[in-house]
Amino acid sequence: MTPTAARTGPPLVGRFAALLALVVVTLVGVRWIVEPDHSRRNLEFMPDMSVSPATESQTVAGALPGGYSQQALVAGVVPRGVTPFRYGPDDAEAQRAGRELSSPFAADDAAAQARGAEVFRIHCVPCHDAAGGGQGTAVLRGMLPPPPLKGINAMQMPDGQMFHVLTLGSGNMPAMRTRLSAADRWAVIRHVRALQTAKAAAPEEATPPQEGAPGETAPGKEENR
Ligand code: HEC
Repeated sequence: MTPTAARTGPPLVGRFAALLALVVVTLVGVRWIVEPDHSRRNLEFMPDMSVSPATESQTVAGALPGGYSQQALVAGVVPRGVTPFRYGPDDAEAQRAGRELSSPFAADDAAAQARGAEVFRIHCVPCHDAAGGGQGTAVLRGMLPPPPLKGINAMQMPDGQMFHVLTLGSGNMPAMRTRLSAADRWAVIRHVRALQTAKAAAPEEATPPQEGAPGETAPGKEENR
């Protein structure tokens, strides 16, 4: 027994060690030759439902109700970043909004006014025109003219009611809820207020060029005041 153990023992361990070394060297070699591409997803074996097929928006998607990928929100869902507006579309509700809602911006908030001016230029000028007179490009091309923003109705309209008009629309005035955030709607109201109080300044601004003499614009302005 002893001689056999003495004969077979050390060579067996040696052979095993050699085999192990060979396997390690082979694996390292293969790993070195076949460098994995970390930018690509690994091969998945039976992923089941962990990766669902993506459906392009606004396309036909047979598995969904109605067959379209675009689905209406489930009742009561508030989309991220959207402030719920709990008022109905009618006049009484607009007046209730006028009593209950107030602007988050102070009347002299310069940043809000600057933002409001930008929003007005992009979203309101096409119909209401830059001065709020109601002769924007869309009106010049056939759209029914909106009432002037310096008119008595808009002047006396509380901020909250104007927010209602902007949010849900009114008559031919489109709803801005999906285009403008609540903050932008409040900001543009600041600009409308600025337009309304700039009533006296607007004709003054318009008169000097009509008078002709470029050098006399400043004294002309002085006289108008
Ligand atoms: C597509 C044209 C259009 C655009 C764009 C538009 N409005 Fe109007 N707006 C109207 C019309 C038309 C009315 C009159 C609605 C009515 O008959 O009730 C109106 C009414 C209003 C009123 C109420 C005026 C009143 O005397 O009752 C306010 C305030 C107002 N708009 C502000 C805005 C602001 C601010 C924007 C930009 C965010 C804007 N509108 C964008 C067409 C437009």
